[in-house]
Formats: sequence, C-alpha cells, structure tokens
Amino acid sequence: MKIIVLGAAAGGGLPQWNCGCPNCVAARLGRLPSLSQSSIAVSANGEDWAILNASPDIRAQMQATPALHPTGPRVSPLKAVLVTNGDIDHVAGLFTLRERQPFTLFATAGIHEVLAANPMMTAVAPDVVPRAPVALGVPFEIVAGVEAELFAVPGKVPLYQEGEVVDTQLEGENTVGVRLSANGKTAFYIPGCAALTPALAERIRGAALVMYDGTLFEDDEMIRMGLGVKTGARMGHMSMTASLSAFEGLGVARRVFVHMNNSNPALDPDSEARRVVEAAGWTVAQDGMEITP
Ligand code: MLT
Ligand code: MN
Ligand code: ZN
Repeated sequence: MKIIVLGAAAGGGLPQWNCGCPNCVAARLGRLPSLSQSSIAVSANGEDWAILNASPDIRAQMQATPALHPTGPRVSPLKAVLVTNGDIDHVAGLFTLRERQPFTLFATAGIHEVLAANPMMTAVAPDVVPRAPVALGVPFEIVAGVEAELFAVPGKVPLYQEGEVVDTQLEGENTVGVRLSANGKTAFYIPGCAALTPALAERIRGAALVMYDGTLFEDDEMIRMGLGVKTGARMGHMSMTASLSAFEGLGVARRVFVHMNNSNPALDPDSEARRVVEAAGWTVAQDGMEITP
C-alpha cells in the first residue's frame, strides 16, 4: 500500500489568503514550505488510486503528483473519492472533478445527504460519478486491492450547518475515521477528531500507522495569536499537546500529524513545538510525502 499526502494543511492552507501570522508570513517569504489543504491518495498497485478528501487545492495537488496524471485521453488513475466529513476543505474539490470523468464517490449516507442538499453537486453528474453510501463498520473495497472501513469519531456538523447550539462531540455519520488495509498492511486516517475516546484508542492500539488530526498545537492558540475567537475544541479538533499524551502507551508504530492549521507553531521546523512533537515520536506531514505502511 502506498499513501501520498496531497495536502497536509487544514482549511485555509499555508499561507492562508487573509492571514499575516508568523507561519503565513514565513511561507510567503519561502522560509517555510507552503502547504495545500487536507487530502491523501492511496493505492495498492500504483495504478489505481483513491483520494481521501477532495480539497479546494485538488487541481494543483493532482498536477504535482505524477501518479495521478491521465494515462490517455480522458483516462485517469483516479477511481474513487472518499470524504470523511462535509467540511468545505474536504468537499469543495469535488466541483473541480466535474469533468464527466467516472469515479465512485464514497461517503456515509449522512454525508451524502449533506452533499446532495447542495444544488451545485448536480454538476458532478451522478450518472458518471455514482454516489456510494458506506455504512459504519462495514469493510468495502475503495480501490483495487485496498479495503476501507469507516468508523465514527467525535466531531461536529460542518460550519455551514451549525445552529445556535453546536455539539462538538457528536459521534455518528458526520465525522469518520478510515481504516485502510492492503497487502497485509493497515493504516488509519483520522484528519478530524475532537477526542480520543477509549473505543477509538482500542481501535488504533498497536497500529502500524495512524495519520491524525494535527489542527492546532494548543487548544487556545488562535485566540492567543489574535487570529480568531474559537478554541480547537469548539472547532471539533483535539490539540497536538493532548494527542501526544493520549497516544502514549498505545503502541502505534508510526504517528503522523495531518490537517495542520496555519497557526500551528509545529509547522516551523525550528520551533519548540516541533521539537516537542518529534521528541514524542511524531512526524509533521508535508505535501508530497509518501508513506508505505
Ligand atoms: C475544520 O476542519 O475545522 C473545518 O474545515 C473548518 C472550516 O470548514 O472552515
Ligand atoms: Mn478541516
Ligand atoms: Zn496564518
């Protein structure tokens, strides 16, 4: 199984268009590598690929990834797209994929419902892009030779569906993690997660690879930096500092943070935050990183 990180950043990317935080400034100056938004690609045979989360940057991500280039006139290695929630950074790329190219769109029935409520999704023609609803806990073949299984993780509804009161610990079809297995190897992809529940901890115990929500380093960093009014918890994300301790003793061989917000100090290789994260045995993902579990 081969995994390619197409985009390591959370919504907004690095740099984010309206942000002048230290990381965004450094990225504009070329001192930090720019990062595109949250997505990975997976394949068992190197020829047929699935993309997990269709980010607004998908066009540039596919351009930067030779394995995803067409192999003939309108022949694409992209066979499937799976979205793990309805957040804009994970679904807006579907509109880029509206060129009448066949692939299967996998999501829970709940997420399909959210997508179908958007009239623009009819441009991603259902007659060429079949919608496949996936039940939680039922393994399926996402792309040739790769088995996937979805499971609920704590999270919230997408920003555009939030009401007056927001439950940030919702567990159901809104926010899912993914187990990927191929050629006897298993990886977990969990780009958004509000808490490492005991059940989730048991699920990933002893795993060879977990790619996990690294949105913020500390829960209140956006408030402290004057970038926003929300904590990570309010956004449905668990902070890196909490994850470092929560993963202790779980025996996860390889731990990779993905979906990093541009405010996250661990994005800077020279930061104390990066030192702490790496000292705990974690890797901070970068765009284009290839991982073979
Ligand atoms: C998130 O991960 O918190 C969302 O992508 C935020 C958003 O939709 O802007
Ligand atoms: Mn996001
Ligand atoms: Zn920024």
